Amino acid sequence: MKIEQFNIDMYHEVYQIWKKTGLSLGKSDTKEEVQQVLNHSQDLFIVGKIEDKIVAVVMGAFDGRRGYVHHLAVDPDYQRLGLGKEIMEDLHNRFTEKNIVKVHLFIEVDTEGVIEFYKKIGWHSREDLVMMSYVPK
Ligand SMILES: CC(C)(COP(=O)(O)OP(=O)(O)OC[C@H]1O[C@@H](n2cnc3c(N)ncnc32)[C@H](O)[C@@H]1OP(=O)(O)O)[C@@H](O)C(=O)NCCC(=O)NCCS
Repeated sequence: MKIEQFNIDMYHEVYQIWKKTGLSLGKSDTKEEVQQVLNHSQDLFIVGKIEDKIVAVVMGAFDGRRGYVHHLAVDPDYQRLGLGKEIMEDLHNRFTEKNIVKVHLFIEVDTEGVIEFYKKIGWHSREDLVMMSYVPK
């Protein structure tokens, strides 16, 4: 798999993969919002291609203190082939190059196998934290 930076011309292809994998998509996933992520963390937002077809995507980000991982997805036709692990290894290297101390991600409780996947690639769940959200008007 060839890994390269996401560019906005890939938006529709990537959106279809997110949709196919059943990720929750909303207002933050419009082309305009995705462009904002790109403006902020361009070199952490990457796709994996096989013969020019996008088969994997992950939106890495850095807020100046912590790194984040959003919307990792592998096309269902290409899952369980090691591609999720491969694109995450590339992202891990990018975080390391930036000397980012800690990286967080959020998993919806009803997603199947995702916790197992992340544990396999070296992540651990936090029992000492509760996630809270606020929606500014
Ligand atoms: C999670 C996801 C990215 C994994 O991608 P993938 O390419 O299938 O994973 P890999 O083939 O690289 O698997 C790496 C390891 O995790 C394991 N793994 C992958 N999916 C798993 C699952 N559903 N249950 C248990 N283990 C799993 C693999 O067996 C492999 O283990 P191994 O190294 O011992 O062989 C993919 O299932 C996906 O796109 N899911 C839907 C989108 C989603 O929920 N994303 C997460 C958002 S937080």
